[in-house]
Formats: sequence, structure tokens, C-alpha cells
Amino acid sequence: MMNTPLEICILAAGKGTRMKTLVPKMLQPIAGAPMIAHVVSTARALKATKTHLVVSEDHAGLKAAIEDQGDLNWVVQTEQLGTGHAVQQAAPFINGDAAVLVLLGDVPLLARETLQPLFEDPADVAVLTVNLQNPAGYGRIQRNAEGQVLGIVEDKDATAAERSITEINTGIFRINPGLLPGLLAPLSNDNGQGEYYLTDIISIAVHQGLTVASVTTDQAEAVSGVNDLVQLAAAERFFQRRQAQQLMRAGVRMLDPARVDIRGAVSFGRDVVLDVNTVLEGPCQIGHGVVIEAGSVIKNSVVGDNSLIKSHSSLEGASLAQDCQVGPYARLRPGAVLGAGVAIGNFVEVKQTTMGPGSKASHLSYLGDATIGARVNIGAGTITCNYDGVNKWQTILEDEVFVGSNTALVAPVTVGQGATIGAGSTITGVIPDAALGVARGRQRNIDAWPRPEKVLDAPGLVKKSAKTKVGD
Ligand code: UD1
Ligand code: CA
Repeated sequence: MMNTPLEICILAAGKGTRMKTLVPKMLQPIAGAPMIAHVVSTARALKATKTHLVVSEDHAGLKAAIEDQGDLNWVVQTEQLGTGHAVQQAAPFINGDAAVLVLLGDVPLLARETLQPLFEDPADVAVLTVNLQNPAGYGRIQRNAEGQVLGIVEDKDATAAERSITEINTGIFRINPGLLPGLLAPLSNDNGQGEYYLTDIISIAVHQGLTVASVTTDQAEAVSGVNDLVQLAAAERFFQRRQAQQLMRAGVRMLDPARVDIRGAVSFGRDVVLDVNTVLEGPCQIGHGVVIEAGSVIKNSVVGDNSLIKSHSSLEGASLAQDCQVGPYARLRPGAVLGAGVAIGNFVEVKQTTMGPGSKASHLSYLGDATIGARVNIGAGTITCNYDGVNKWQTILEDEVFVGSNTALVAPVTVGQGATIGAGSTITGVIPDAALGVARGRQRNIDAWPRPEKVLDAPGLVKKSAKTKVGD
């Protein structure tokens, strides 16, 4: 890049009325992060000495959404009088010896590489342009017969002939040091929208005899503006497609990259396989050799090497050591900590529970607020009754406990090492090491039990016999 210092001005004060949402446009997420955060990280990647963020008076949400690393100057634009007016608010803070780059808060997917040619061009003012098949809504680039840039005309102010121009203004400008105040001073709001257009600095620069250059990119999607929810969805798809390509090149296998969404920071080991309709929300760490089957959603979790997440599982705030197997249809909630080789089967919910290596809960269980040792076998239908309506209580199952099917563990309860619980038990107290705990009604048999029978009253008419009760 250049040796001149760089200051960046990000315009983020607009009302975003075309979104038709209560959530401010700048806070609408793309890949899980607010739109404005993407622009701020681009600015940081460019290593600007200062970034000026032009915001409206009501910007508490933006402040909360962006980590201020001391490099941001928050400039308030009290009235939204246009993009030129927005830059005018920031201009007094910009050092005269710095080049200026203007970025738009609603052009969020611009990569640093796309901006590079703007800095390589020696012109006093350079604008980033792109050719679009459908340029509707964007400012058009006006050129003379020799092809030199003369100005920018906004869609709303354009004649039919100007509207047919397919080269559009991306809204991104680079201006040489010291020139900005002189370019902003002549701006007027005498136009279709009654706004101070930043775009007018191009014709002003031409009038002032400055050199003006256009830098045309072929990255149409990366420079698209987001004005409504249709464009927001398009931006999300573009981001996901680009990210999926980067990940596949880095060795992550996706059966269909169009059906995997990754939001936020997710790291991958080698030989990870993501089947269709996987959603990953960072922060997540996915280890080597992990296979995630179709339809699984994993948020804020660590998945250890060679673990297998079977289809339609939901993990949130879970931590898995290596060689675990989870699902299909499993739910791991915050505080689920699984040791090596743990197996969690279908319709098992685990919350605030640690399971030691090799333990298994294969079917239909709820394990909450439990500390489970190594090689414990949890039978089908086991439930920790951890909540009494007010307090949460702990269940402790020591190593090698065997829990029979359909057991209710009424916490607080402790089951000693190697103990066994008979199926169908409701356990309310301690079971010592190696003991068998059984707590259920005994079976009794009644010989020659008369089953209820259908009685034929009249031909074709069925009456039911009276109910027979145990003890009758
Ligand atoms: C703008 C450009 C248009 C370009 C397009 C690219 C102008 C006049 N038009 O149009 O040529 O093709 O972007 O996407 O510049 N903002 C403020 N304060 C304001 C007004 C806007 O900070 O008073 C911010 C908005 O939050 C937004 C950005 O500036 O992030 C662009 O404003 P917007 O109203 O979306 O401009 P467009 O109509 O998209
Ligand atoms: Ca816009």
C-alpha cells in the first residue's frame, strides 16, 4: 500500500427506511455479525490511522455492536441531509496529511483486495465503479466522448438516457491528502432528493482541474449496496458462497456448499465433512476428522477430533472431547461436557452435565445438573429430576454405574461406583458402591385373568363387557 497515512470515513447515519424494519439497518446481521461490523473490520484490515464513523444521534446499538479498539472516532450527524453532508461532519477531524477513503456502512462485503487498485491509482480523486446488468437505484458514472469521468448522476435525477448507463458508483471514494475540504465546500442540495450528495465531488473535482480516475472492479456482488431485505438476503448468500469456497480450498469438505451456513468465528481441523443443511454459529472449534451429518445446528461449541454428529442434532454451549458420537436427534445444551468416546443417542437432552470417558446415554433421556463418571451406562428413558420448582439439584453417578431403563433420579442423589439401578426405579437417596438399587412396585401375577370380551347382543350389534378391575 501507499506510504501516506490513511484515514477512513464510514457513513452509517442513514435511516435505512427501505429496510422497513425496526432493527436499524446497520445492525442487520450478515453471517451473524451486524452489517457495520463487517465494514469496520475491512477498515481495520487496511490499517488506517483513524476511522471516522458517521452515525445518527441514536447510535447506542452501534456502539454496543462494535468493539472500540481506540481507533474509532464517533461523529454524530444530527440530521440526515445526505452522504455529502455526512462526510462534512467528519471532515474537520481528518488530518490534512492523510489520504481519505470513504466507505458506506451499507456496502458491507467489500474485500481489502477489491480496494487495492484505488490506492495504486495516482489521481487526486478515485471512485470505485462496477458495471451492472441492472443498475437501477444506483448513481451512474458520466463520461465524455474520450471516456474521461465527468461526474455521477443519481438514479432519481437521471434522464432516460443516463439511466441506460450500466456503470455505477459503488459509493467508495479515495481522495488525496488535503483535498477533501475544498471538494465538500461547494456541495449543494439542489437536486431531486434535496440532499447534499457526496457523489457531486467528482464533477467538482473535474471543475477544479484535479485529476479524477475511476477504478472498475468486476466484483459486482462484493460492492453491492444493501438497502432492503432482498439485498440483505443476496448479501448473505454471497458471503456464504465466498466463505464456503475459502473453506473448501482450505480442506473442509462440503457435500453442497450452497446448503451450509457458517456464522461468526468457526475453526476447522483437517478432514472435516459437513453434510447438507448444517448451520454452524461461532465461536466454534471443529476438530480433525469431525463429520457433521445433515440438518445439524451447532452453536458456541467445541467438537473434539473424530467425533461424529449424526443427523438433526442441536448443540449449543457444548464441549466434546475426541471420538464422541451424538445423535441422531440429540440435544446438547450449555454446560454439556462430554469426555472421550461418549455416546449420546436419539432424543437425549443433556444440560450442565459432565460425562466421563466412554459413558453412554443411547436413547430418550434427560440429563441435567449431573456429574457422570467414566463408562457409565444410562438406560433408555432415564430422567434426572433436577428441579423442585425452585432449586436445581445435582445428580452424581460414579464410574461404571449401570442405570436401568426408565429410571427417575430424584436429585440430590449419589450413586456409588459400580452400582446398578433396576429398571423402572425412582431413586431418591444414596446407593452405595457396587450395590443394586431397586425402587419400584413388585410384580404380582393373577392366574387365569378374565379379559374383557365383546358381547354380541343382537345380530351385528356389539356391546362391550363391563370393566374388570384388579382386586374384583
Ligand atoms: C449511494 C450513492 C449512489 C451509489 C450507492 C451505492 C449518494 C448520493 N448516492 O446511494 O451514487 O450508487 O450509494 O450503494 O451518495 N448516510 C449517512 N447520512 C446521510 C445519508 C446517508 O450517513 O445523511 C449513509 C447511509 O447510512 C448509508 C450510506 O450513507 O450507509 C449511503 O446512503 P444511502 O441513502 O443508502 O445511499 P444510496 O441511495 O444507496
Ligand atoms: Ca445504500
